[in-house]
Amino acid sequence: MHLHRRFYFRSRIAHVFLIALLAQASLVFFSARPAAAQFKTAPFAQPARANSELNDPAIEARVEELLKKMTLEEKVGQLVQYSAGQPTGPGTGRTDYADMLSKGEIGALFNIVTAKETNAFQRIAVEKSRLHIPLIFGLDVIHGFRTEFPIPLGMSATWDPQLVERAARVAAREASATGIRWTFSPMVDLSRDPRWGRVAEGAGEDPFLGSALARAYVRGYQGPHLNAAESILACPKHYVGYGAAEGGRDYNTTEISEHTLREYYLPPFHAAVDAGAGSIMSAFNSLDGIPASANPFTLKKILRQEWGFRGIVDSDWTSVGELMNHGIANDGATAARKAFQAGVDMDMVSSLYHDHLAQLVRSGQVSEADLDEDVRHVLRVKFALGLFENPYADEKKESSAFLLPEAVSLSGEIAERSFVLLKNDLLPNASPLLPLSNDVKSVALIGPLADDGNMMLGSWGGLGDGHDVITLRAALVKKLGEARVHYAKGSEISAGTDTQIKAAVDAAKNSDVVILALGENGPEMTGEAASRTHLDLPGRQEQLLEAVVATGKPAALIVFSGRPLILPWAFEHVNSVLTAWFPGIQAGPALVRTLFGENNPSGKLTMTWPRSVGQIPIYYNALNTGRPIVQNDKTPFPNGHDEKFVSRYIDESNLPKFPFGFGLSYTSLRYGPTELNKSDLRLDWLREGLANTSSTAPAPLQASANITNAGSRATTETVQLYVRLQGTSVSEPVRALKGFQQVTIAPGETKRVVFSVPAETFAFWNDQNVYGVEPARATIWISPDSTSGTGAQIEIRSKTN
Ligand code: NOJ
Repeated sequence: MHLHRRFYFRSRIAHVFLIALLAQASLVFFSARPAAAQFKTAPFAQPARANSELNDPAIEARVEELLKKMTLEEKVGQLVQYSAGQPTGPGTGRTDYADMLSKGEIGALFNIVTAKETNAFQRIAVEKSRLHIPLIFGLDVIHGFRTEFPIPLGMSATWDPQLVERAARVAAREASATGIRWTFSPMVDLSRDPRWGRVAEGAGEDPFLGSALARAYVRGYQGPHLNAAESILACPKHYVGYGAAEGGRDYNTTEISEHTLREYYLPPFHAAVDAGAGSIMSAFNSLDGIPASANPFTLKKILRQEWGFRGIVDSDWTSVGELMNHGIANDGATAARKAFQAGVDMDMVSSLYHDHLAQLVRSGQVSEADLDEDVRHVLRVKFALGLFENPYADEKKESSAFLLPEAVSLSGEIAERSFVLLKNDLLPNASPLLPLSNDVKSVALIGPLADDGNMMLGSWGGLGDGHDVITLRAALVKKLGEARVHYAKGSEISAGTDTQIKAAVDAAKNSDVVILALGENGPEMTGEAASRTHLDLPGRQEQLLEAVVATGKPAALIVFSGRPLILPWAFEHVNSVLTAWFPGIQAGPALVRTLFGENNPSGKLTMTWPRSVGQIPIYYNALNTGRPIVQNDKTPFPNGHDEKFVSRYIDESNLPKFPFGFGLSYTSLRYGPTELNKSDLRLDWLREGLANTSSTAPAPLQASANITNAGSRATTETVQLYVRLQGTSVSEPVRALKGFQQVTIAPGETKRVVFSVPAETFAFWNDQNVYGVEPARATIWISPDSTSGTGAQIEIRSKTN
C-alpha cells in the first residue's frame, strides 16, 4: 500500500522535480549543535507547560466570537476529517467534499500533496462557506516530505535530539510549502516487539530517550511559532499503548497496568505535550478492554486534567467506527457518542460524527457545551496556526522549497550517524575488514538492496521519490570507478534464482572483498500493517549470503531493515555487520563514507536486538524477577540442579544478541568506573528538586567516569547514564536510562564525562501510582550500553535515619 502511495505521489510531483533541483539555497535554517549536551525529561508529577500559543487570550476571544455565530451543524463540521487523496486505510466511499465544504461540514482534509489542490479545497471553505473557516490540511510526514531522512528508528540511533529537530524542521518547511500544516508525527509509541512493523516509525523501547526525541520532533515541526508560515502542527501518536500490541500483530489488543502505562508508555507523550504539541492521535488498540479511542481515563483524566492539554485529539483512521468491531457499540450513533464523550475531538474518516453528532446533541444524549469545548480545541489551533490570515499556499514557490542543498546534506549527515556497527572482527591479518582501504583493488557488491532507490525510503515515503536517492551502487562506482565494482544483484528481496546466486558467487570470487546489501522491503515489510513472525532475511537472501561467504572472501554485510532481524548465521560467520535501517536519499554516499572510514560509525541501538523470535518481547529495562539468572555469553546454558528453577529458557540464552545502547566504532574505548561526588542523598533534597520544575534547580548529585580512546581514530561516543533502584515500594527495572551525552574523543585521549544527576533520576510511579521519590539504594552506571560498565551505589535516606 505504501509503495502505491509513493508511485502516486511521484507522478503528481514530476513537474516540480526539475525546478527543485535548481532551488536556491539562500536560507540558513539549521541550528548549531552544542559539543556535548545532556538531556533530561520533565518531571511527570507536574502538568505539562501550557503552550502559550494555545493559551492566548487574544485567540480565545476570537474563538468565542466565532463559536457564537456557529450553527449546530457548523460546529459538528469542525470535528469532521476526511482523506481526499490516496487512501492510507479503508475508505468510506465519500467523495462529495466540495459540496460538504461549501456547507461548512468539514474541518480538516488530508492526503492532499500539492499546493494547487490544497488551495482548490481551501478556496471552497474560505470563500463559499458561510463563516469562511479555513481547513487544516494534514499528511503523514514521518521522516521527511520530499527530502527523505532515515526512518525514525534509524534517526533514533543517532541519539541526537538536535539532528532530529533539524530534520523535522526541514520536513515542516517542505510540507508547509504545499499548504500542509499538520503532520501525523511523531510516532512516540514505545515498543518492545520487533515483530510489530511499526517499530520502524518510532524511537525504540526507552521512555527517556523516546521523550527527548519526542520533544525534538515537536520543536522541529512547530518551529519557534505555530503561526510562522513554515511551521506545521505536530501530532504525537498513537495515544496510547499501541506499541504493546499482543504478539506484535498490528492493531491488536493491549493489556498494560496503570503503573506500566505511567512509567513507560506515557512519558514520551507527556514530553511531546509539554513541548507544545498542538494535537494528539488516539490509537486503534483496546487498552485493558477499553478502546483507546473511547477511553476517558487516558483522554480526559490524564491528557486534559493532569497534563492540561489544550489542542486537538484526532482519532486514528476510522478508529471511531471501529468501536463497533471492538464490541463496545452496536451502531454508528453509539460509536460516535462513546468516542465523543471519552474525549475524541475529531473523527478521522469514519464519518460518524458527521452522520450522528448533531442528532445526538438535539436528542440530549450529548451536551452542546461539550460540543462547544471540542470545537474550541479545533478553532484554537486554526487561529494559532494563522490559517485565518494565511489560508493559501504559494503555488509558485512550492517546488523551490524541496531538496535544498542544506536539507540533502543534513539527510546524509543523519544517515551516517544512524548506522550501527554490530560486528567488526579481526581478519587473519589481525586487522578488521572495516574500514576498507581506498586502495582496495576490487569489491563485489551483492544484494537486492544495493541499487534500489525506492527501498531506501522505507515506509511512509511522503513525497519521496526513489529517483532522488543515490544508491550504494551508484556511490561506490563514483568512488572506485565501474571497473573496480563487481555488482551482482544475487536475488530479489522475496525471491531469486540459482542463476542469480551463481552470478553473485562468481562476482565474489573475482573480487578482493565482498559487500552484501541485504534485508527487508522497506515499503512492504515495515511500518503499518507489516507485522512479521519470521524476522529473517526474506526470500533466498540467506542462501545467497551463505553461498557468497563460503567463497572465503572477506565480507561485510549491510542490513537494511525496519527492525532488528534474527540473523544467527550471519553474526557467526560474516566478518563485519553494519545495520543501516533505511537511510533515505543519501543512502549511498553515507554508506560509502562509512565503509571507507571517512565516517566513523557512532550509532547505538535503541531497541534490544534479540537472538531468537522466542525471546520477544525482550527489553533492557526489565524487572529482575524473584528468580533471576546470572548469565553471560560464555555460559549461556547453565547446567545443574540449582540453576534449573530460575527465570530462563531451556533452549536459549536470556541475553539479547546486542543490548539496547550498543554500537561499535572503528576505535576502542575504555570506560573507567562510575564515581559519585556524594555518599548519600537526603529524601527531602530530592523532594525539593522534584517540586522545583525550573531547570535552574541545582542537581543534587554528580556522576562521572573517565573514558579513554585506546584506538587510533577519533570518535563521537554516546555516553549513557543508567540507574537501578532497590528497596522501593514497586519493583524497578534492572537498569533505566536517565541521561546521555555525546562526546568526541581523540585517539589516545582520556575524557572525564560528568553528569548532573537531577532529582527526577530517582523518581518513579510508586505502588499508589503517585510519582515521587522513596528511600532506596541506587546504583548508577556510566556506560557505553545498557549491560556494561562499573556502577556506583548511593543510599537515598529519609531525614530521620
Ligand atoms: C493510520 C495510521 O495508524 C496512522 O499512523 C496514520 O497517521 C493515519 N492512518 C493517517 O494516514
